[in-house]
Amino acid sequence: MDTEKLHLDTLAVRAGIERSQFNEHSEALYLTSSFVFANAAQAAARFSGAEPGYTYSRFTNPTVTAFQARLAALEGAEACVATASGMSAILATVMGLMKAGDHIVSSHSIFGATVQLFSTLLPKFGVTTTFVDGTDVSAWERALTPSTRMLFVETPSNPLTEIADIAALAAIARRAGVLLVVDNCFCSPALQRPLDLGADLVVHSATKHLDGQGRVMGGAVAGRADLVTEGIFPFLRTAGPSLSPFNAWVLLKGMETLGVRMQAQSARALILAQWLEMRPEIERVYYPGLTSHPQHVLAMRQQKSGGSIVSFVVRGGREAAWRVVDATRIISITANLGDTKTTITHPASTTHGRISPEARAAAGIGEGLLRLAVGLEHTEDLTRDLERGLAKV
Ligand SMILES: Cc1ncc(COP(=O)(O)O)c(C=O)c1O
Repeated sequence: MDTEKLHLDTLAVRAGIERSQFNEHSEALYLTSSFVFANAAQAAARFSGAEPGYTYSRFTNPTVTAFQARLAALEGAEACVATASGMSAILATVMGLMKAGDHIVSSHSIFGATVQLFSTLLPKFGVTTTFVDGTDVSAWERALTPSTRMLFVETPSNPLTEIADIAALAAIARRAGVLLVVDNCFCSPALQRPLDLGADLVVHSATKHLDGQGRVMGGAVAGRADLVTEGIFPFLRTAGPSLSPFNAWVLLKGMETLGVRMQAQSARALILAQWLEMRPEIERVYYPGLTSHPQHVLAMRQQKSGGSIVSFVVRGGREAAWRVVDATRIISITANLGDTKTTITHPASTTHGRISPEARAAAGIGEGLLRLAVGLEHTEDLTRDLERGLAKV
């Protein structure tokens, strides 16, 4: 299939399918840990790579291959490798492409576990990170050192939906001879394709919008074939944080509805953001689709819409924010996002609870902040659910 000529909605349903001898219509699920060889010579040839084919599901499985091919098509990537989770996708990128002495420049508004990985785990192996304001292009440039190997950015960021200029960062990366890695979790390829804007690699928590129904964990790295296949894949093969075939199959089915889900969830998120902006109990709303968002123009240039995540600050700090959370009856109190079920999170005490108070303050994550990951329920039911708590603030 010539994937370059097809629209994302078509690729999401059709890309990556390789039918077995039974010619099944829906994607097959290959629940097997290993594959059988005709003879010893074939086993040796498969393991050495002299003969293409499947060997062992830690690093080769047809259902996982189908997921990789579909996501590569959606992102416009030369290659893609799947991982057990979004965090193992980020870890594999670093472990596969960097060495002791190397340096990362990262935006400070990134997912809490990524902050932990960069600031506490990687230094043990000699890889250091400088955190910058992701929206300040000159800050990225200033943070470069002769050892810098990678720029890492999440846009929109979690949870404040800050927008970094991917094309501008790609230009800096190119000039400096370093890699630009974009965590595309919030938008998914349905709303934003970082590789088209010059990024070298895209990382995903497939757990989020790619699944879209809150069922399985998964992750992926997509981008240049030399980086993915020669740099990151050998780490996955050896270290083993691989995606299970079952999860790959669930993700394949989830991706079929990615385009329509992202459109519908974004439309609902915009309605909720506009509604929240009018409420006197709310100090501030963060949503890239609002004209009041500081990077609204940039967001509308590099994204198709504002996305499904709306964050807002309730007047009255943690106590008031928790009151809003606790008054919900429909919205789920859980940390996941990208689900068809709307979720609400208090980042300061959950997703970003493990990072230091100073780092939290630097990232702008206050005690009154709540993150709403908007799903597919009717917006009137969602506003009524929030109104109950807001009335008590
Ligand atoms: C932006 C972002 N990146 C990465 C991750 C990590 O993904 P996972 O939970 O699949 O490891 C998350 C999880 O919430 C996230 O929000």
